Amino acid sequence: MRTVSVIGIGAGSPEFLTLQAISGLRHARAVFALDKGDTKADLLALRQHIIDTHSPSTPLYSITDPERDRNPDNYQAEVIRWHKQRAALLAEAIRTHSGENDTIAFLVWGDPSLYDSTLRIIEHMETYENLNMNVQVIPGITAIQVLTAAHKLLLNRIGEAIHITTGRNLKTTSAHNRRNCVVMLDGANAWLENFSDNTYIYWGAYLGTEHQVLRAGYVKDIGEELAELKKQLRTTHGWIMDTYLLRELDEHA
Ligand SMILES: C[S@@+](CC[C@H](N)C(=O)[O-])C[C@H]1O[C@@H](n2cnc3c(N)ncnc32)[C@H](O)[C@@H]1O
Repeated sequence: MRTVSVIGIGAGSPEFLTLQAISGLRHARAVFALDKGDTKADLLALRQHIIDTHSPSTPLYSITDPERDRNPDNYQAEVIRWHKQRAALLAEAIRTHSGENDTIAFLVWGDPSLYDSTLRIIEHMETYENLNMNVQVIPGITAIQVLTAAHKLLLNRIGEAIHITTGRNLKTTSAHNRRNCVVMLDGANAWLENFSDNTYIYWGAYLGTEHQVLRAGYVKDIGEELAELKKQLRTTHGWIMDTYLLRELDEHA
C-alpha cells in the first residue's frame, strides 16, 4: 500500500520547515499538489524553493483544481460532483507517477489541520477512487503562531477560551466569542463589521515573508486605515493573506 505524508510546511518562511517535515520530504518518491486557479506565484515559488533546497531530485506534480459552480441549483449534488472530480484527477496523477508501495507527499501551507482540504481529499480518493493509502501527518507552523510570535502575544488570557473563525463568519460571532477571536480567510475587512469601543486588533499580512506587515490598535481608531492599507497592499503585490486577533480589552484585561 502507498504511504502519503501530509506535510505542513509552515505559513510563510522556508525556515518554518521542521526537521520532521524535511525528513518526510526526503523520503517521498514524488510530491503532489492541488493548485487552485488563483494560487499565487509567490506561494508556488516558495513550495518549489523548499523542494529544491531539501530534496531537489523529488518531482513535483501540480494538478489544477477543477472548477466549481458556486451558485448551483442543487448545492449538495454540485459539491459531490466536484469532490468526485478532484479525487479522480488526483488519484490518476498518483497512480501514474508513483508505484503501489511508494511513499508520496503533499505539501500543505501552514498546518494540515487548519482550513485546509488535503486530508478531506485523501478521504475522497479512498471513497470514490478506491485509492487506499497509509496516511501520516507532519504538523506545521500555522499563520496564527506566526502572528502571535510577531506581535509577541499570548493567544489566550488566563483561563479564557479562544475562538477561531473566518472573515465571513465574524459578522455573526457573539460578543463572548469575540473576547479572543482569531480571524482567517478574510477577503475583505470583516473587522469593520463587528466591533465595540474596546475591540483591539493585532493584524498581520504576508506573515513570515519578506513582505510582512504588522499593525495593532483599537478598531475604532485604526480600522478604516487598515482597510485602506489592505487595499493598497493587494494592489502592490497582486494578492494578500492576512490573519488577525481581535481582543476585547476591558477591566479584566
Ligand atoms: C486556506 S487557509 C490556510 C491556513 C493554513 N493551513 C495555516 O495553518 O495557517 C488561508 C488563510 O490562512 C491565513 N494565512 C496563511 N498564511 C498566511 C500568512 N503568511 N500571513 C497571513 N495570513 C496567512 C490567511 O488568513 C489565509 O486567508
